[in-house]
Amino acid sequence: MYPLTDMDNLSEVDKWLAWLLDRRFGGNAELMKNSLQSLIHTRDVILHNVQVQPDNIVLDIGTGDGIIGLGALSFLGEQGRIILSDISEDALSYCAQTVTDLKEEQRVRLLQASCDDLSAIKDNSIDCIVGRAVLIYVEDKKACFREFYRVLKPGGRLSINEPINRFSQIHKSPLSLLGFDLRPLGDIANKILSAYGYPFDLSVDPMLNFDERSLFDLATQTGFTQVHYQFNGHLVPQSVFPTWETFLQYAPNPNSPTFEEVLAKATFTDEERSQVISYLQPVVERGEAKRYSADTYVWAMKE
Ligand SMILES: C[S@@+](CC[C@H](N)C(=O)[O-])C[C@H]1O[C@@H](n2cnc3c(N)ncnc32)[C@H](O)[C@@H]1O
Repeated sequence: MYPLTDMDNLSEVDKWLAWLLDRRFGGNAELMKNSLQSLIHTRDVILHNVQVQPDNIVLDIGTGDGIIGLGALSFLGEQGRIILSDISEDALSYCAQTVTDLKEEQRVRLLQASCDDLSAIKDNSIDCIVGRAVLIYVEDKKACFREFYRVLKPGGRLSINEPINRFSQIHKSPLSLLGFDLRPLGDIANKILSAYGYPFDLSVDPMLNFDERSLFDLATQTGFTQVHYQFNGHLVPQSVFPTWETFLQYAPNPNSPTFEEVLAKATFTDEERSQVISYLQPVVERGEAKRYSADTYVWAMKE
């Protein structure tokens, strides 16, 4: 399945696949290796929490490159099935190639659907729903939980993991970016942050207007029983970027620009760009950061 970046024409794929294949790693093999290692751990916890049985039908919502859903293959027997679903046609084409490479066409199906509208799937027809980092992009999270509840069989299980970006926004210093202190840049700091979309509205932005408790509450309100969440919050005093080039080419999420794209904006003068680089490059290369991050697992059963 990996390496992911063997694909040509990355500029021609949609923002979701471009981010999954390249932009989240800043084009750097070391960052890719570290990120994937941590994702594999997350996938294993999601699958542990959902307790896949050999004859189950497993639905992966917002599958991306298929990393979570395809992890269920090793738990399934011949009768088991996996549905990889996503809104992105490009992500699904990528998954289709992986499924062919794995010779798993019999057990794996692809479905283009938004997870707040799973009308292509019958009521009470799915044993397990898994997913990671997808609800964060969806405005109507309650509709998603209603759909999860509807399509699950009685006894069916839901297991997801979502980043809680709100946590870092609340804790981080207002003039910092990706853990780096921008205060020495004076007014340019605000220009950089506004190019990323700051200040974000924590009560409206779908990526920020929820936390672990709201996901737990949505699950219980929708009718799930045996609902659990496990929150992980971190403050780590070093950056994730092995090189300055990686920092330049990194996008924190599919909706975000890279730092290189930010600096290329017409709002910056050449002098400001030089100032930014002479301050920030050594800081990034020394790895001096104060990085907050958080995510939550939520798992639940429909009785
Ligand atoms: C950050 S990626 C996560 C991919 C994968 N689950 C993983 O853990 O690596 C988010 C994925 O959600 C998909 N997505 C975004 N909005 C969606 C929606 N409303 N319904 C279903 N998928 C969606 C994107 O196309 C993308 O593949």
